[in-house]
Amino acid sequence: MDFDQAVARAGTDSLKWGHYPADVIPLWVADMDFLSPPAVVDAVRARAEHGVFGYSIVPESLVQAIVTYVERRYGWRIEAEWLVWLPSLVTGIDLACGASAAPGGDVMTITPVYPPFLRAPATQGRGLLTVPATQADGRWQLPLAAMEEAVTPETRVLLFCHPHNPLGRVWDAREVAVVVDFCRRHRLVLCSDEIHCDLLLDPLGHTPAAVAADDAADLVITLMSPSKTFNLPGLNFAFAIIADPELRMRFTAAGRGLLPYPGCFALTAAEAAYREGGPWLTELLEYLRGNRDLVQRFVAESLPAVGMTHVEATYLAWLDVRELDVPDPMQACLDAGVALSPGAAFGDPGFLRLNFGCSRGTLQEALRRLQAALA
Ligand SMILES: Cc1ncc(COP(=O)(O)O)c(C=O)c1O
Repeated sequence: MDFDQAVARAGTDSLKWGHYPADVIPLWVADMDFLSPPAVVDAVRARAEHGVFGYSIVPESLVQAIVTYVERRYGWRIEAEWLVWLPSLVTGIDLACGASAAPGGDVMTITPVYPPFLRAPATQGRGLLTVPATQADGRWQLPLAAMEEAVTPETRVLLFCHPHNPLGRVWDAREVAVVVDFCRRHRLVLCSDEIHCDLLLDPLGHTPAAVAADDAADLVITLMSPSKTFNLPGLNFAFAIIADPELRMRFTAAGRGLLPYPGCFALTAAEAAYREGGPWLTELLEYLRGNRDLVQRFVAESLPAVGMTHVEATYLAWLDVRELDVPDPMQACLDAGVALSPGAAFGDPGFLRLNFGCSRGTLQEALRRLQAALA
């Protein structure tokens, strides 16, 4: 795949490209500008050519593709009946809040974090407890001591972003086991959003929360999706993996009457991606590593007042602009023709998030504009 080739997305109803004026380079919402794997495009095209778009059932072949993928990639043997289909991963975050806490119960999360983690508890009538991540030796860390202090008898759920958006951390097996232990001791459901788990840029390995400890399976709701990995977020498909029948029943009950069946294109694309997307994914990761290194070098050399920690996973860089002598860095970037995501939406206004999931040429031009805005 030629990831250097910039694909024009104007005129495709793209949220990323349609939100700002046409001359602004959008490095904000988390989708990539790359074509999906050829096998996915071919499969969707063949499905479209059939021309009848009735209701679908999830084919056994997709279930098997997911079971095999999860076992091969993470060594986790899941059962078909543990799967719950979702129209988007965010729906699963809301259902986890609704299913695991009584009205008035609290949901804990580690900030900064993907904005729906901060929004979903209130939408579901639950309270929100935020605990800021800490930094040691230039690396973001789990704030375990502060979590112990913040947890109350009303806390019922930990929303865990693994790997972490926007911090770019891959939580290792030991860290995940400590989180599982925390949840077990405080009787919390652990809702683990693992949507970025295939986008590891460093050779670290992803440990699903449900396998991090022997006794984890009955308290974990795992949320996964092919949409970040294979760039399919516009097809609306994700799934939960819940081993415990009681927890699964509460989760599905919370969504009864609200969840649409997956659409035919989502099913077709997901199966092609999981079965045949592997070689494309290997090339993608190589390319993203190059983009990550470029951003990291640029920030170190050209924006000395901006901080950036090493991105271990995701295609998102979290830029610390607290020391910058620019009154409104987000607006300054926009004025220079680049849209980033404001840190305030993630719970930390001193930061900006930069999406480097685009062609190298687009990224280079965006960095030139950033230098004009922030240097
Ligand atoms: C951590 C995380 N979870 C969920 C999502 C969105 O998933 P979906 O589009 O399937 O709701 C994103 C998208 O950026 C994300 O970063």
